Amino acid sequence: MIKLIHITDPHLPYPGTLLHGLDPHGNLDACLRHVDRHHDDADLIVVSGDLSEQGDVAAYRALAERLADVRAPVRLMLGNHDDRANFRTIFPDAFDKGRFLQSVTSTAEGLVVTLDTLEQGCVEGHLCLERLAWLDARLSEADGQPVFLFLHHPPFDIHIPSLDSSRLTASEDLLAVLRRHGNVRYIFAGHVHRQVSGLWHGIPFSTLPGTSHQSAATFDGGGFAISFEPPAYSVIFLNRTSVTIHPIHFLEGLN
Ligand SMILES: [Fe+2]
Repeated sequence: MIKLIHITDPHLPYPGTLLHGLDPHGNLDACLRHVDRHHDDADLIVVSGDLSEQGDVAAYRALAERLADVRAPVRLMLGNHDDRANFRTIFPDAFDKGRFLQSVTSTAEGLVVTLDTLEQGCVEGHLCLERLAWLDARLSEADGQPVFLFLHHPPFDIHIPSLDSSRLTASEDLLAVLRRHGNVRYIFAGHVHRQVSGLWHGIPFSTLPGTSHQSAATFDGGGFAISFEPPAYSVIFLNRTSVTIHPIHFLEGLN
């Protein structure tokens, strides 16, 4: 059994400023303190994008300072609010050999793969041929191990129009790669700012609230609407036969 921590969409603004009347820096601090206090045995922490609100170097620097005290290993991902070049100035070692922020972590229960869906300047997510080929190679190398896939943009509709219009484009290209190997057991996504779970072409998925603001459940259309429902992170227990996810509302209850 391994334990993963899934954190998403901290949306750090320029330090010292608020976002939608909220304090994303303070919220991320509280989240990481909670994780560190209760889950310092975590095998991996994944932060699935929209690390910053506007891609400021100063926001990434503040993130790096916060993460310096975190004891569990951390994989950072990028979302549509991020700036890959600015991120790289603060986290040059986070990139493997390629130009995208992607990773494979080998665990006792399988591979955790993080995929970079950011296309700079676009709200919706993209996977170019280079990234699809990278994923294809990693899934091929899994050699019988199950794969747990993290990406910022979900490749499926969640039936909130403003989010469906900004999900991963051309998700059939991703699906073709996944079907070729058949070893991705679960998809974890960011971007949605809500707790949603379901099934996409036989692969179970879940999303979770951000650590900052949330998105309103406006199923009947209209533009994107902010919600002030409580932030959360997820504790995920994985083994060869099960995936168990606990949302933790870290601003409420015991710290
Ligand atoms: Fe976001």
